[in-house]
Amino acid sequence: MLPGVKISVIGCGYLGAVHAACMADFGHDVVGVDIDEAKVAKLAAGVPSFHEPGLEPLLRQGVADGSLRFTTDKTALAGARVHFIAVGTPQRGGSYAADMSYVWSAVEDIIANATPSSDGPIVVVGKSTVPVGTAQGVADRLAEAGVDAVVVWNPEFLREGYAVQDTQRPDRVVYGLPDDRDRGEIGRAVVDEVYAPIIAAGIPRLLVNYPTAELVKVAANSFLATKISFINSMAELCDASGADVSRLAEAIGHDDRIGSKFLQAGIGFGGGCLPKDIRAFMARAGELGVDQSLTFLREVDSINMRRRDHAVDLASEMAGGRLVGVKVAVLGLTFKPDSDDVRDSPALDIAGRLWGRGANVVATDPAGTEAVRLARPDLHIVDSVQEALSGADLVMLLTAWQDYVHLDPAHAKTLVATPRIIDGRNVLDPHAWTDAGWDYRGMGRRSSSIW
Ligand code: UGA
Repeated sequence: MLPGVKISVIGCGYLGAVHAACMADFGHDVVGVDIDEAKVAKLAAGVPSFHEPGLEPLLRQGVADGSLRFTTDKTALAGARVHFIAVGTPQRGGSYAADMSYVWSAVEDIIANATPSSDGPIVVVGKSTVPVGTAQGVADRLAEAGVDAVVVWNPEFLREGYAVQDTQRPDRVVYGLPDDRDRGEIGRAVVDEVYAPIIAAGIPRLLVNYPTAELVKVAANSFLATKISFINSMAELCDASGADVSRLAEAIGHDDRIGSKFLQAGIGFGGGCLPKDIRAFMARAGELGVDQSLTFLREVDSINMRRRDHAVDLASEMAGGRLVGVKVAVLGLTFKPDSDDVRDSPALDIAGRLWGRGANVVATDPAGTEAVRLARPDLHIVDSVQEALSGADLVMLLTAWQDYVHLDPAHAKTLVATPRIIDGRNVLDPHAWTDAGWDYRGMGRRSSSIW
């Protein structure tokens, strides 16, 4: 095997920590750099700072064999041939646009600390999700500072819960390359070397210009968000007409051109990516003078936010018109199962709104309770489903954890005060719950229909 490439990964959050561990597993010599001392201390001990299946063994292995280090010391960037920028680009306060300050400070860190390589220019690989035009800006800034660097924009498409698999065996890789062909070739060759196992596996690799690479990422997330909001708008139609959105999704999903994935209606999308990415995309389109091209994303966003209103209204309706003093068992707080991430979580938002309307909310989650206890100390969080269900007037399943999907309706009924359930993710069998004596309500679903 070729000796590994010396790599730095700047930003060790979700994306960076997984990327660093996966690159060490590919045989490279990796240093992860982050400003958060607590996070770095955990990672340096081989312990993930978030829940992600399959990450811990890779971290432990890399740390143990010395191929993976984590530090807050930016001088550790010296000597690396490749610098990955993997910092966050959260929504800017009071605006739809992305906060780009971490990206620019990563670029300044490279300028201040990177050292020239005897093998040719250093290669700066952008992985963060950024507004179109950023890659060229990064290249210009490095050139202005006299750094001999080739910038490659290589967006990531990893899903939380599958991050290791999506990094090591993605369904495609995209390299955004500079217009200068010779320098572009250098960037391509170096990134190919870093991704040798991906290239060897024959995974499609697309070579494109910078703006295309940047747009691919936000276009993909916008399409996914649109698909979810489309099916949620159908759920509204189903509620109004007596149709069943799950059967509708199943039927249209058989058409290959539509496909069945991401057609799960419910309380909508959340997390650290889809909501802020569609908003940042709209903001950037406005700056480019083509805001009309993305007006539909405004609707995608509003359909999504309306799901939360609908869930709260439905809870109130089922509780007889008032939520004050009603004991609501909330099952699930994270934005999706197999994650401990509660960023922009529809479940947590709904739990908070119920609490705001006077409900006695008792919530639980297999992984998200620690984050919620910090973020929302006012919410009553318990550690088990049994505790949450005990004496409940209404149950709301808001994150589709397998433990909840497989709840036994007969047993659950013995725990609650009143057998009423809102299936916010449409993952329960309406007939099984209704037959067990529950008042079951899905999102755009009929429990009474025999078909
Ligand atoms: C998303 C994209 O799926 C990844 O491809 C992308 O790389 C990532 O953002 C990113 O930009 O980094 P992720 O945020 O992990 O990944 O979550 P998803 O699996 O996309 O789920 C997003 C939300 O949509 C969740 O709240 C989920 O419950 C909801 N969802 C998903 C639905 O409501 N219905 C569906 O049919 C599918």
